[in-house]
Amino acid sequence: MAKIIGAVTTSHVPAIGGAIAKGKQQDPYWKPFFDGFNPIRQWLGDHKPDVVVVIYNDHGLNFFLDKMPTFSVGAAPTYVNADEGWGIPSLPPFTGNQPLSWHLIESLVEEEFDLTTCQEMLVDHAFTLPMALLWPDQKWPVTVVPVCINTVQAPVPSAKRCWKLGEAIGRAVASWAGDEKVLILGTGGLSHQLDGERAGFINKDFDLKFMDSLVGDDPQWATQFSGHELVEKTGTQGIELLMWLATRATLGAKVKDVFRNYHIPISNTASGLMLMEPAV
Ligand code: DHB
Ligand code: FE
Repeated sequence: MAKIIGAVTTSHVPAIGGAIAKGKQQDPYWKPFFDGFNPIRQWLGDHKPDVVVVIYNDHGLNFFLDKMPTFSVGAAPTYVNADEGWGIPSLPPFTGNQPLSWHLIESLVEEEFDLTTCQEMLVDHAFTLPMALLWPDQKWPVTVVPVCINTVQAPVPSAKRCWKLGEAIGRAVASWAGDEKVLILGTGGLSHQLDGERAGFINKDFDLKFMDSLVGDDPQWATQFSGHELVEKTGTQGIELLMWLATRATLGAKVKDVFRNYHIPISNTASGLMLMEPAV
């Protein structure tokens, strides 16, 4: 049986790609951010996942505002990155795990999630940069299954719905006959707002409470808030924390809080990082 061995949640910011390309990992601005990934890389070296289910939001590379699925799952043989206009190099392609993709799609549709299935899919910075933070040599030792949640165009799915999606992903992996070790990687957040009067808005109190909640007795704490309330509390792009909720929900009732980092700011974003394991 396939098994979820852990979950990593992290922010994604295009500027990280620029820092990697220019080798700035040890610069004072970047060091606390990049160093935060050392324990995660150590853990990956020890636990060696075979496949990564990446839960992220596309920002206009694969889906533009004219067609915006709420939930979509990749079932492609390969996923390619492309220029998003940030002036950063695109990263090497990722190999898909098509059998697991189709199993996930069939399980989720059976559980009444009406998905868009993508047999061709470009993956943007929200997918590629977290992968490059986990595997800096960019020689991906894993296959991937992309799961994309719309957080860029209203209406966005509720936090409750994203939690349920994560639970269903957890059940789908557990019912897969393969023997893969699966890592769930959720990317987005934490608080940030790129546009409008509140550009630069960050809410450290909320972020820290949210991170605590994921590993505490009430991991669904944030599902009490509507999408509008989450935007109010975390910023227009802070709503990307929905990816963290879905990721946490894949792990079941109790988790082990393995590692955390929180650093303000990276570009306009409060950068969070967590590693959780399912509690045995
Ligand atoms: C930034 C953050 C994001 O989540 C994103 O998708 C793009 C830019 C930023 O802080 O610059
Ligand atoms: Fe983003």
